[in-house]
Amino acid sequence: MTAMNRQVLLASRPQGPVTEDNFRIVDAPIGEPGAGEVLVKNEWLSLDPYMRGRMNDVKSYVPPVRIGEVMVGQTVGEVVVSHDSRFAPGDKVLAPSGWQLYGVAKADEVQKIDARHAPASYYLGVLGMPGMTAWFGLFDIGAPKAGETVVVSAASGAVGSVVGQLAKIHGCRAVGIAGGKAKCDYVVQELGFDACVDHKGGSLHRDLRAACPNGVDVHFENVGGVVLDTMLGMMNRFSRIIICGLIAEYNATEPYGYTRLRSVLVNRIRMQGMIVFDWKDRYGEALQGLGGHLAAGKLKYRESVVVGVDNAPKGLIGLLRGENFGKQLVRLA
Ligand SMILES: NC(=O)c1ccc[n+]([C@@H]2O[C@H](COP(=O)([O-])OP(=O)(O)OC[C@H]3O[C@@H](n4cnc5c(N)ncnc54)[C@H](OP(=O)(O)O)[C@@H]3O)[C@@H](O)[C@H]2O)c1
Repeated sequence: MTAMNRQVLLASRPQGPVTEDNFRIVDAPIGEPGAGEVLVKNEWLSLDPYMRGRMNDVKSYVPPVRIGEVMVGQTVGEVVVSHDSRFAPGDKVLAPSGWQLYGVAKADEVQKIDARHAPASYYLGVLGMPGMTAWFGLFDIGAPKAGETVVVSAASGAVGSVVGQLAKIHGCRAVGIAGGKAKCDYVVQELGFDACVDHKGGSLHRDLRAACPNGVDVHFENVGGVVLDTMLGMMNRFSRIIICGLIAEYNATEPYGYTRLRSVLVNRIRMQGMIVFDWKDRYGEALQGLGGHLAAGKLKYRESVVVGVDNAPKGLIGLLRGENFGKQLVRLA
């Protein structure tokens, strides 16, 4: 094979916001798959907020990327060489390839996808990890009942857009929080939420009160910081908060000082963190549910695409600044 691989490596650990200097782009020979492995030509790379955490050398639910290693990430692509009987060249797959054009993976870590019913890239978004996160976080932890009010932050994004639409399908009042008028308009007019509050509008608490006249029964938190602190003051008795993400804090060097913890006590709020991998044995259940809603035209989905592996760093930096509008992807082929 004469083609070369191109990879984005972690060059240094960010202190505060990520910069392009934190990455190094290199050409390298394409790896040779061994027994039980496949070689995948990647077509789409998913950019996700968790990648910021992997750039830090701190203890978390998974180990950090080491300096000089290929940045982690999920891809969809096509098998070009297989040394495992379950895969053949031409199969479309979801793979843990990372930020590179070709990846060698253990066959056990690769999943076939059905690209006939939905575009392959959807398996990184609405039919992939973000969709699973929305499904299990909302239904298993949030346990919404029809008629209740569900609020979700980062509402136009990969996880948030699915949460609010599922809440509507379930018969709830869905209220989003998003950054800027264009995103808020999209959340209400395209996604069908009942209301959306602009967290950059300068009157978050007052606007949330107007959007949630009966208080809030389920809050799906993707952002943290001032958004979560404000939401703590909005919650009803026996309400539920899903702590899915704290993106406002990922670049911070100091933890945010929350001021409304008392609300958890007096309102008997159940607040639970979630990591989607804990539901990995039940992904099929969510895939079936999400796929059904998508096929029925009940789930709308939007992507934000940067082109070329060299632009992956820019894509992640933009995502962490809220510049993405929909699921952030890199088109590799
Ligand atoms: N726990 C899990 O298993 C799991 C799995 C997947 C994702 N997550 C978490 O879920 C959250 C959403 O992920 P996603 O992939 O769906 O990303 P996303 O919502 O598509 O994109 C991130 C969005 O976060 C918002 N944001 C960024 N910085 C912010 C800030 N300082 N203050 C307020 N909002 C900010 C921006 O939206 P606006 O412009 O609207 O503010 C941005 O578009 C992240 O926190 C992520 O870590 C967790």
